[in-house]
Amino acid sequence: MERGLFDLTGKVALLTGASRGMGRQMAEALARQGATVVISARKQDQLDAAAAEINAAIGETRVYAVAANAGRKEDLERLVEETHRLAGPIDIVIGNAGVNPHYGPIGEIPDDAYNKIMQTNVQSNLWLARLVAPDMAAKGSGSMIFTASVGALKPSPTLGTYGMSKLALIGLVRNLALEYGPQGIRANAICPGVVKTEFARALWDSEAGEERARTQVPLRRFGQPEDFAGVAVFLASDASSYMTGQALTLCGGTNMWS
Ligand SMILES: NC(=O)c1ccc[n+]([C@@H]2O[C@H](COP(=O)([O-])OP(=O)(O)OC[C@H]3O[C@@H](n4cnc5c(N)ncnc54)[C@H](OP(=O)(O)O)[C@@H]3O)[C@@H](O)[C@H]2O)c1
Repeated sequence: MERGLFDLTGKVALLTGASRGMGRQMAEALARQGATVVISARKQDQLDAAAAEINAAIGETRVYAVAANAGRKEDLERLVEETHRLAGPIDIVIGNAGVNPHYGPIGEIPDDAYNKIMQTNVQSNLWLARLVAPDMAAKGSGSMIFTASVGALKPSPTLGTYGMSKLALIGLVRNLALEYGPQGIRANAICPGVVKTEFARALWDSEAGEERARTQVPLRRFGQPEDFAGVAVFLASDASSYMTGQALTLCGGTNMWS
């Protein structure tokens, strides 16, 4: 099949948070475009199942599963080493893992929850970027993609620290784009609205949630993990060759440019 601008044949992609949800769909999309893909999450059994499903779907063994907690530096170091061993130097990274252990006002957030959110959603993505940048710089090209959130775009009475962390992640992306651009490395963020995954179940799995989708989302539905396949391929491939330092919002129209 002619993949043209979206061809990822021979590319190596590494994704965190990719055993289910958006990460799982983005991994399959990259594999379908020809990339060799390493998927990562904490639970090895779910990762193995996801890798087997994707390999069956593409009819080749090009997806590998390596367990790692994306919030721990030593896990990320081991993950990048394993990716080198299994697949080679990295061309594409998707920092998709994110956490939110606190639902409530920032005035009440315990220090350990705050630190966990900031370390996993922000600092770990800086560690990941620094670990893969040498591979990309040696090739003179690479694409770094990070999953932020529309939560970055406005304050919230219940998800405030999470939103702060995702806004900081967009700031990180911007600076990565500035610092690594001269070496041919691009960095962009994806900002999902509400997507029907385990992570966001409390936001959508109720009659009140369905009512919000029907009345407040211009496209009249919440997102599905599959909605993120196309943007991952776009940002990973030459189709977005002149795009860097951007935050792309995929939210069914809830957050429009203004
Ligand atoms: N769903 C939404 O409405 C929404 C909206 C905006 C932004 N986001 C962002 O989208 C990203 C993906 O979320 P999702 O909705 O697709 O969630 P999901 O379906 O629940 O999947 C989360 C994935 O991340 C892994 N994971 C969780 N914590 C991890 C950690 N510390 N280290 C490594 N892997 C970890 C999970 O596997 P294990 O449990 O085995 O680790 C799983 O593979 C997150 O960054 C989230 O903040 C989601």
